[in-house]
Amino acid sequence: MDEKERIDCLFETGELPLSEYAPLIDERSKEASEYLFEKARIRQEENFGKRVFLRGIIEFSNFCRCDCLYCGIRKSNAHAERYHLTKDEILSCARQGYGFGFRTVVLQSGEDLSYTDEMICDIVSSIRAQMPDMTVTLSIGEKDRASYERYFDAGADRYLLRHESASPDLYAKLHPAAQTLENRIRCLYDLKDIGYQVGAGMMLETPYQKTEDLVEDLLFLRQLRPEMIGIGPFIPHKDTPFRGEKEGSTDLCLFMIGVLRLMFPKALIPATTALGTVNPLGREKGILAGGNVIMPNLSPKRVRGKYLLYDGKICTGEDASQCQGCIRGRMKRIGYEVDPGRGDYPGWVRRERT
Ligand code: 5AD
Ligand code: FES
Repeated sequence: MDEKERIDCLFETGELPLSEYAPLIDERSKEASEYLFEKARIRQEENFGKRVFLRGIIEFSNFCRCDCLYCGIRKSNAHAERYHLTKDEILSCARQGYGFGFRTVVLQSGEDLSYTDEMICDIVSSIRAQMPDMTVTLSIGEKDRASYERYFDAGADRYLLRHESASPDLYAKLHPAAQTLENRIRCLYDLKDIGYQVGAGMMLETPYQKTEDLVEDLLFLRQLRPEMIGIGPFIPHKDTPFRGEKEGSTDLCLFMIGVLRLMFPKALIPATTALGTVNPLGREKGILAGGNVIMPNLSPKRVRGKYLLYDGKICTGEDASQCQGCIRGRMKRIGYEVDPGRGDYPGWVRRERT
């Protein structure tokens, strides 16, 4: 197949013959990329109209028991200034987001065991009680199934847990031996089974990553069928073993967003902060490549400079109100509207557990 035939095939069927994924990614000419983005926008508009969903992200703790080699808040980074927010602080951020019109908050943190399941459930159910039409997304890492069930019963509807890499060899080069791909995948299938809308995803152009690894990611995603897929370029952090490694490109990230949109036409795919960090217009380009979600930062200004997974992160000098205004302006300028709804995966309904 040539480049255009592959994109046509993806557009029409949502998949490719196995041997065609690697050349699709490797060849990636400028013309083919533009053609892919046009097709991706067709799928995006069919399912979502020219609209994007906003998710306010509250980074409520940067304590972490994990030691991912790429991540600035890894436990071994003694230079990270650690903080956690109280329940009241988290609730006040959520209310501020509600006032901006956000109908999803994402509660994200490192794997901080000082928040017990009771505390997490209390925070989730308090948000739901105060703002009944607010959706709560959790992004707090690997837990056992019983904990995921409790959060769901407390009212959480979505869970973000990137798989990071579906290739066992690459996963092992990015993480210490105690963190296994097996457990990561177990978590994702538990979350699916419980009834969450599940978000998986991977970084692009990490050290050691090859095209075959990305193909494995696509095949894994095809099996898992996540409702949300978050991807972004790897960006080095100065206090990690990967300091000095090269950051990922805008081009590959945009191309992969386009590919994902054709493979998963109804998925919620953010134009991520990492993409906005490697390119000043990254988020706009991400939407124009097929993305449909943006995640403005809702964290209190005083902690923003501390939730640093990578160097150069944008929005650390702004406050929540500036970010929401900035995002709205950016979307308007590219001809997209912000959807005022919850932004669930099309057709998703919460099923009560028995
Ligand atoms: N560069 C880019 N993305 C990163 N993440 C963590 N560290 C980095 C980095 N150095 C991503 C991971 C994680 C998400 C919250 O942020 O994919 O799942
Ligand atoms: Fe935060 Fe633009 S989104 S400053």
